[in-house]
Amino acid sequence: MQNNSYTVAVLGAGNIGSAVIARLLELENEIVDINLKKVLVSDISKDRDVDKKLLTDNFSDILDDQSIDLVIEVLGGVDPGKEYIKSLLEGGKAVITANKDIIADCGSELVQLAQENNTCLYFEAAVAAGIPVLKPLIESLRGESLKRVTGIINGTSNYILSSMEEGSSYTDALNTAQDLGYAEPDPTNDVEGVDAKFKAMILSMICFGANPTPENLYTEGISTITKEDFDWANRLNKTIKLVAVIDNENEGFNARVHPVLIDTKHPLAAIRGSLNAVVVEGENINQLVFSGPGAGAAPTASAIIGDVLSACHQLSSDQSNWYPLRSQKFENKEFKNVSSSWFVRLSVKDEPGVLASIAGTFGENNVSIESVIQEGRGDQAELVLVTHEAPEEDLQNSINQISSLDSVASVTSTLRVYS
Ligand SMILES: NC(=O)c1ccc[n+]([C@@H]2O[C@H](COP(=O)([O-])OP(=O)(O)OC[C@H]3O[C@@H](n4cnc5c(N)ncnc54)[C@H](OP(=O)(O)O)[C@@H]3O)[C@@H](O)[C@H]2O)c1
Repeated sequence: MQNNSYTVAVLGAGNIGSAVIARLLELENEIVDINLKKVLVSDISKDRDVDKKLLTDNFSDILDDQSIDLVIEVLGGVDPGKEYIKSLLEGGKAVITANKDIIADCGSELVQLAQENNTCLYFEAAVAAGIPVLKPLIESLRGESLKRVTGIINGTSNYILSSMEEGSSYTDALNTAQDLGYAEPDPTNDVEGVDAKFKAMILSMICFGANPTPENLYTEGISTITKEDFDWANRLNKTIKLVAVIDNENEGFNARVHPVLIDTKHPLAAIRGSLNAVVVEGENINQLVFSGPGAGAAPTASAIIGDVLSACHQLSSDQSNWYPLRSQKFENKEFKNVSSSWFVRLSVKDEPGVLASIAGTFGENNVSIESVIQEGRGDQAELVLVTHEAPEEDLQNSINQISSLDSVASVTSTLRVYS
């Protein structure tokens, strides 16, 4: 590093890496003078739009080069990126990554490693890509006692749900998402909430100093949502969204990912297509909404360039221990103790006493009912109930018992109602 001049390497030149390299090369000198020295790839013979002289397939060329101040990791996956980041930080180099898998896996440890080695680690692009949300949470809102953070943080599932809201079936919406490149050929991680889970783990660390494991972060995806669920949502002036909810209220921390029925007036209901949004609630701020593109090469590269500038600033001011990470305030609350209200759709026999036996089962489990609608006759009757708030365990027990009642043909769907 010299005056305003920094030597940089990039690990990876794929979808994101090539966009980052292009942006680094066009950065104006008056902002910062970037000297791009090396780019790590696995196959140097591949035809690509990067100066061949910069390419290497040997990580040591970057790790051992004392002139390199700052390294951007955009390889993807946990290995070998995780070990690369560790050794770069141990060597005192600043690191920027877009890798949610690595940060979810060991973000706190890496931040600590950066601090111990008087350097820095930034990962804005790892959550909601182009939306600058981590930096405001870390810096602007550091003095705020946050209560709840709720995010639509998977663009693929939001695209599918938005299409279903407009009348598509799940399968048609998924096929279109794949044709448009919003969904992978194997969409499991997106539609089953796994991608959102990793991002929720990162938000948990940043917002509440908590480190939930993948095993104890309840995760449910959208693959069982049907057109009929949307028809019902519409009748109730609601829509359906896959959300990560992270809260630290009532003396307990919990993070979870699942679909919710949400009021059409809520800001998250207006987030359509592949967009992402994060709603932050706190004592003094009431509610803040961050929204924008949560994926794509250009928005992701934009977040990475922002991190590059922050890292350059930190390197020039020789600050250590910059990241003022929060420490966890409340104990972890198990998901079974998290309260919410449920929307329950049942296929029932239309005979005397059905409603009484269902209401009785809820009552035995301390769950009270807010509203009931019955439609159809004979064996085709449908009963739709919305419960008052109750702990997850009581609601699950109720549903298990109700599904074995003689008068209940099936529990067609259950959805938590966001409030
Ligand atoms: N796509 C998005 O919208 C988005 C948004 C936010 C964050 N991200 C994150 O950005 C990261 C990069 O994603 P991407 O879509 O750019 O991935 P990608 O297109 O698969 O590119 C990966 C690059 O890394 C190189 N590479 C992979 N393994 C390597 C190894 N062991 N040694 C050396 N080079 C290796 C590849 O080299 P070759 O070119 O030689 O194969 C390629 O250039 C991921 O962590 C992803 O989660 C992506």
